[in-house]
Amino acid sequence: MLGITKTAIFANSKGGVGKSTLALLMGLGLATRSGRDKIELIDLDPQATSSDSLKRFTNHRFSVVQDNDFFLGNGFPNNAKITNHVQSKEHFRDINNYIIIDSPAGSDPVRSSFFMNSNIIFVPTSVSDADLFATRKFLDALHQLFEENQASNGPKPPPVVILPMMVDSRDEFNEMRTAFSDVPAYFGRALYYSPLFRRAFRAEANDENVKMLLRESSDYTLWLTNLMIHSHQIHVQPNKLFQL
Ligand SMILES: Nc1ncnc2c1ncn2[C@@H]1O[C@H](COP(=O)(O)OP(=O)(O)O)[C@@H](O)[C@H]1O
Ligand SMILES: [Mg+2]
Repeated sequence: MLGITKTAIFANSKGGVGKSTLALLMGLGLATRSGRDKIELIDLDPQATSSDSLKRFTNHRFSVVQDNDFFLGNGFPNNAKITNHVQSKEHFRDINNYIIIDSPAGSDPVRSSFFMNSNIIFVPTSVSDADLFATRKFLDALHQLFEENQASNGPKPPPVVILPMMVDSRDEFNEMRTAFSDVPAYFGRALYYSPLFRRAFRAEANDENVKMLLRESSDYTLWLTNLMIHSHQIHVQPNKLFQL
C-alpha cells in the first residue's frame, strides 16, 4: 500500500510557549518510533531554533528544511509554496511521510491559509496571563480563518489541540482548562515543567541532554506522536473544550 503524508503544525502568535520544543519532541519521537517512515521538520521561524539544533540528527529518514521561498517579501508566509511543498511529497510503498511545521511567533492565522491543509494544529500555551490572553486571541483568529474557508467551500478544518505547557501542578493544569472551557477545541495532556527542557537545543557531548529529555518525556512523546499518526480519527470539531 502507498504511504500517506500527514502534516502537523505547532502555532501560536505568542513566543516562548514551547512550539519549537514540541516540534523537537514530535520530530525525534516519530523518528525513533517508526523504522521506515520519513520525517521532515519545516522551520518557518527566522530565528531557526529548530533547524539549527536538529541539523545534527538528520539522516535519510529525518530532514530539516528552512527555505526563504516559504516567505513573501513582506514577511508573510507564502501559502502556495508551503502547500505545494507539502502536497508534492513523493509517496513510497509502505512508507509514510510526516511533516512537522514549527511556526514563528507573530504568525497570523488569517494570513496562513496553509494551516487549512494540515491534519492537526497544536497550540501550546503556558498558564501565565500574557500567554493565556494571547492564546485566546490566536484561537479566535484561527476560527475566523476556518469560517472564511467554510464560507468559500474550502477544505474541512483540521482539529485544534491546545497543549498546556510548563505546568507545575495539577491545580495549574485545572486552572488552564477552566480558562479555555468555552473554546471549541481539544485540550491535551500537560507537559510539566522540567529544567531538562532548558537545555534541549544545546549540542552536548553524545547528545546526553536530548537522550535524557526523550527518556523523561517518553510517555508524553508517545501520546503526542500517536495523536499526529491517528489524527484522522479525531473527527468533528467539539462545540466546547474537550479533554483528550
Ligand atoms: N516543559 C518545559 N519545562 C521547562 N522549560 C520549558 C518547557 N518547555 C519549554 N521550555 C522552555 O521554554 C522556552 C521557550 O520554548 P520554545 O520551544 O523555544 O518556545 P517557542 O518556540 O514557542 O518560542 C525555552 O527556553 C524552552 O527550553
Ligand atoms: Mg520557536
